Amino acid sequence: RAENGKDFRFLYYAFSSWGQGATVIQSHRAGDNATIHCNHTKGINYFQMYWYRQVPGENIKLIVFTTTAKPDHDFGDFDKKKFSATKPDAESGTFTVENLEPGDQGLYFCAVSHCDSNTGEAYFGGGTKLTVLDPKREITPPTVKVFQPSSKECRNLKDEKERKKTLLCVARDFYPDHVSIFWQVNAKNVTKGVATDPAARLDDKTYFITSRLRVHAEVWTSPGTNFSCFVTFFDGNKTIIKDETVFAVEGMFMWNSEIT
Ligand SMILES: *[C@@H]1O[C@H](CO)[C@@H](O)[C@H](O)[C@H]1NC(C)=O
Ligand SMILES: *[C@@H]1O[C@H](CO)[C@@H](O)[C@H](O)[C@H]1NC(C)=O
Ligand SMILES: *[C@@H]1O[C@H](CO)[C@@H](O)[C@H](O)[C@H]1NC(C)=O
Ligand SMILES: *[C@@H]1O[C@H](CO)[C@@H](O)[C@H](O)[C@H]1NC(C)=O
Ligand SMILES: *[C@@H]1O[C@H](CO)[C@@H](O)[C@H](O)[C@H]1NC(C)=O
Repeated sequence: RAENGKDFRFLYYAFSSWGQGATVIQSHRAGDNATIHCNHTKGINYFQMYWYRQVPGENIKLIVFTTTAKPDHDFGDFDKKKFSATKPDAESGTFTVENLEPGDQGLYFCAVSHCDSNTGEAYFGGGTKLTVLDPKREITPPTVKVFQPSSKECRNLKDEKERKKTLLCVARDFYPDHVSIFWQVNAKNVTKGVATDPAARLDDKTYFITSRLRVHAEVWTSPGTNFSCFVTFFDGNKTIIKDETVFAVEGMFMWNSEIT
């Protein structure tokens, strides 16, 4: 069984974290060490760093507490042969899962805090997902579809200016569930009005995720405006971006809303 374990492949994927929006994505084999970096810009008072793991179906557990004030990291009950950490300075740290094996799958988080109990809130990073690839499943990039707003949405609202329209982006049929989504209006990134599912969901054997972009109705009906949904996926070697664009429907939406 241990021999078979060597055939496992792992992907890890860091969701947006503080400081830089850099997405770290890497591919590993069983027996490799996977290192996760955590840098922050909260200031040098935040010199304490915690590393947590969430395994599907379990609560989040603290694995190790590190601080620049002490060279020994506190691993509690966790095995120091399995995990290691570095804390070179106040604003950075690393965490390593050594000798990767299937049981290491999970979502890993770092958090930082300082000592002042009044203002010492902890800040959590975006998390890094470590996935053991199912050898029976193929790595498959998503297909992306953008659905136009319903002509009925908010049509009863009296104040025209307040009317909003929701575009829906659906990415589906991908494996594993390592994707991130962003939107553009006229080729410019937008984040206002964007709501993306917190996690992809399983549908039969593949994953799907949805994201919504809400815009003012007048934006949706301005001639020449285009709306694009981009889905980033890592296939183990390279990042693949799939996208779809829809165009504003001039007048037509108003006309539709009259006849329905
Ligand atoms: C993983 O880290 C341990 C401890 O630092 C080291 O002994 C080992 O050689 C590393 N393994 C790989 C595959 O780099
Ligand atoms: C994090 O900080 C360390 C130490 O300051 C630096 O060496 C490293 O390049 C930084 N990593 C990222 C991703 O910025
Ligand atoms: C969307 O609009 C931008 C800005 O007007 C333009 O540069 C881009 O080519 C358009 N995209 C498509 C797919 O038409
Ligand atoms: C738009 O956002 C994506 C994802 O955050 C980023 O990779 C890309 O560089 C941004 N593009 C522009 C033009 O800012
Ligand atoms: C990466 O590319 C190599 C060579 O083309 C291929 O054998 C391997 O399966 C790819 N890795 C993944 C995770 O798709």
